[in-house]
Order: sequence, then structure tokens, then C-alpha cells
Amino acid sequence: MTVGIDDISIYIPRLFVDARDFAVARGMDPDKLQRGLGISKMAMVDTNQDPACMAANACLRIMQKSHLSPKDIGRLYVATESSLDESKAMNSYVIGMLEQIYGDDSFEHCGGIECKFACVSGSYALYDNSNWIRAGESGGKSAIVVVSDIAKYDLGSSGEYTQGAGAVAMLVNDNPRLLEFDPKVTSTSIKNEYDFYRPFGKETPIVHGQYSNLLYLLQVKKALMLYKEKALSTGLIKLKAGETILDYIDFLSMHLPYSNMGKKALAYLLRHEWRKLPRWKKIIEKIGMEEPIPKDPRGTIESVLADSEFMTKDHEFTKKFSKTEEFQEVYDTKLASSLIASQMIGNLYTASLYLGFRSCLEFEFQKGTDLAGKRFGFGSYGSGSSAMVFSGAIKPTYKEIVKDMNLESEIGNRVKLSLEEYEEIHENKRGPKENFLDSKEEFVLIDVENIAESKGERRYVFTG
Ligand code: HMG
Repeated sequence: MTVGIDDISIYIPRLFVDARDFAVARGMDPDKLQRGLGISKMAMVDTNQDPACMAANACLRIMQKSHLSPKDIGRLYVATESSLDESKAMNSYVIGMLEQIYGDDSFEHCGGIECKFACVSGSYALYDNSNWIRAGESGGKSAIVVVSDIAKYDLGSSGEYTQGAGAVAMLVNDNPRLLEFDPKVTSTSIKNEYDFYRPFGKETPIVHGQYSNLLYLLQVKKALMLYKEKALSTGLIKLKAGETILDYIDFLSMHLPYSNMGKKALAYLLRHEWRKLPRWKKIIEKIGMEEPIPKDPRGTIESVLADSEFMTKDHEFTKKFSKTEEFQEVYDTKLASSLIASQMIGNLYTASLYLGFRSCLEFEFQKGTDLAGKRFGFGSYGSGSSAMVFSGAIKPTYKEIVKDMNLESEIGNRVKLSLEEYEEIHENKRGPKENFLDSKEEFVLIDVENIAESKGERRYVFTG
């Protein structure tokens, strides 16, 4: 049975903070954000938007685009780390909003939960829903998996320039028009870590930035090693002498907390895969230095980060490696298109990986690349921490979906916030009704109850 992503839709709020304005206001070199991290704009929610209404808007778009009715949907899962309630799941809010359009109880047959594991939970939700279909439990219905988040960090922190907001909805079924998942190769790694976490009641995370960068790389590499074992043992990929598994992945989508993290991850994974192959000798000659080894090669992340001599040399080596034509070729052909949307929008936590996938489809299609049959590899990472690596092949029918993709027109007219306006939103100084923008044909938040017996109840309307 083939199972995969049939269609994909996005909802990105129209307000944004410009990275250059932001850098100037914080006394930073704008090049650090634009060239160093690959950030040009960060999408921001308006005062009348939250992760639930962004998720509902993405869902409504996919329902309308694919001409679906509620009876076509058997499960609706929302993966998020911007939860609104300790108990009530975000998919219940989403169903409430969708029923404003499709009628009372129209989704009552439809199961689902809210999933949490930082940015990786959407990938677990996709995997579990695919297996629900593979197990023959779906009765011919599709699942919708929505990933929706607001990436918000403390004012003045180093995370503040890696914010963003948005939602991606994916329709999963047994006859997908877009991408068919490769069976029996999905691989995970998991470890109890405190690289990035958000204790109860705290609106912004506690982050150990450089630690989180390194942990992301290590965890994705571990999941990739397991993927490799499975891809070889199932016969999905057959390697000849001198080849690596990455030679058989045509496009890569990585979790993108900021777009240059994708490039960092590619360099790290290629180094790992290539260093045992004959091609490495030529690359080392071009780089002109041996690959550095930490003083304690089997040490902890803390010991590696504390080994400043190694960190400096390794940074220099990575920079030189990233400039080789061998790296550049892989970067340009397999990764670069997936990074464009992230530069324009910022971190969407759970939704970042899938926005990257969508970005690759749209911009490769625009270049005239024939994507049919091409294999996409996905590197999903969630702090705390877990990684998932999986893959899928693009279906010959993909053009039906991809031909209409247009990020700019799907976002709509974007409106730049002044730094003062951004800080007002960030510090929650305005209520839901003090919104900056008028909304048309979308769900918005109008009220959050504050009296004891109904505290936290949220009301949404669909704007005409
Ligand atoms: P930082 O300390 O501000 O930045 O932290 P930096 O000093 O590492 O500089 C960043 C890059 O800019 C470097 O590039 C600099 O060289 C360059 P690199 O050398 O590494 O390639 N740079 C410049 N370039 C041009 N002109 C200049 C200049 N100055 C410096 N003048 C960090 C950056 C991402 C750590 C910080 O923003 C942060 O903590 N962000 C939040 C955490 C995060 O995004 N972590 C990523 C991995 S963990 C993850 O992805 C999970 C997550 O999404 C959450 C979840 O799972 O739920 C976060």
C-alpha cells in the first residue's frame, strides 16, 4: 500500500519584523542575521491570532483546495509546542472553528489528539497517521496533520532573532498525489536533554543556543545512521563501492530554526558520510587542513563545546569545506530551494521542516526541475530531544499540487511592524480586539474568558 502526503497548505500571518530594522534597533550588524543566520523577515501573529486559529486556517485551506468534506476526514491531529491548555487538545479548538463553516457536529466522527515533542512532534504525527492508514483502520478516509506554532523568545535574548509563526496542514492518504513515504525506513533517536525547554506557565523557552545547535546535529546523525541500516537492509537503496546513502537522496528537507541551520546540518552530515570514502582525500587536499579531532573524541557535548581549540579549528574546517565545489554542488542541487521560505518567514518550530519541504517543491518547480520519482530525505529535530529521519518519493501526479504554489500570494500583503509595535505584541500589551490588520475570510480570536468558572475559554469567528 502506498501512503503519503496528498496535499499541503500553509497559513502564515501577514505581520512581520524586518531583520535589518531589528538588528539596527538591537545594535547588531545586520549581516549577522542576513548572512550569518540566513534571516531576512520574521512572521509575527497579530493580537487576534493564536496557534489554534492559524491551524484552523491552514486546515480550511486544504479542505477547500482539495474539495474535501468532513466525511472524507477520519483523523485530525495538531502537533504544536505552543499549547493553549494543559488538558484541552488544540485539535478540539480547530474542529470547533471548522464546524462554524461545515456545520455543527460535522466532524464528530473524526478522532485525533494534540502531539508534543518540541519541533519533531509533527513528524511523529505524520508517521502515526500513516501507520493508521497502513493498518487498514482508516476505512478509506484521509487524515489531516497540522503543525502550528509561534516561535517566541525573550526580548534581548540571542533567540529573539530566530522567531516566526505559521501553520502547515498536510493531507495524508493511501493514494497520495504528492509524495509517497518509503516504508520501513523511518528512524528515530531520543535522549533526555535540556537544550531548549519551556516549563509550565512560562511563555518563552529556556535555551542553551550553541548546545542546541550541536545536539541537533548529533541527534539527526544518529537517526540517519539507523535510517541507513534500514534503507540498505530493506533494499530501498543499494550502494556501490565509494558511494554514500546521501548520493541516493535527491532533495533534503531539514528542520530549520533559521535557514543557515540547514546548511550547517548538510555540512555535518556530508562530513560524516564522506570521510570514509575515496572522494574525501581530494577534498582534504583542497581544504588544505586535516579534519580536527576533539581532545576527548568520545566525550560529552559539554566537553566538546569546552574544547575551544577544537571548536575553533572545526569551525574553520567547516567553513573551508562549505566552500568546496563538492559541497556547493550538493548544497545547490539538494538543499538551497528548501531554505528560501525560512529566510522570508523565520522559525515555525513544528512547521519549519514542512515549510522547507513546500519551499523546495515551489522553487524547484519554478526552476523547471522534473521532480517525478525524486527521493526527498527529511531530517526532523525536536529539542529535549529527539530526531526522526525518513524519506519519500515524489509521485508523477505532483504537478497537480505544486503548479499552484505561490508563497507570496498565499501569505498575502505583508505589513512591516515598527520595533515599538513588535514589542507591544511581544509583551502582550494589546488585547485580541486591538488588532493591527483587518482579516478577510479567516478564523480569528475574539475573546479569552477571564472569569473563574470559564477562565481560558477562547472564542473564534470566521471573518467575512
Ligand atoms: P548567536 O550566539 O547569536 O550567534 O546564536 P553566533 O555567534 O553563533 O553567530 C551566528 C552566525 O552568524 C555564525 O555563523 C557567525 O559566524 C555569523 P557560523 O559561523 O556558525 O556559520 N556571524 C556573522 N556573519 C556575518 N556578519 C557578521 C556576523 N556575526 C556573526 N557580522 C543561535 C545563534 C542560533 C544559537 C541563537 O539565535 C539561539 O539560541 N536561537 C534559539 C535556539 C536555536 O534556534 N537553536 C537551533 C538548534 S535547536 C532546534 O533547532 C530546536 C528548536 O527549533 C526548538 C524546538 O525543537 O522546539 C530551537
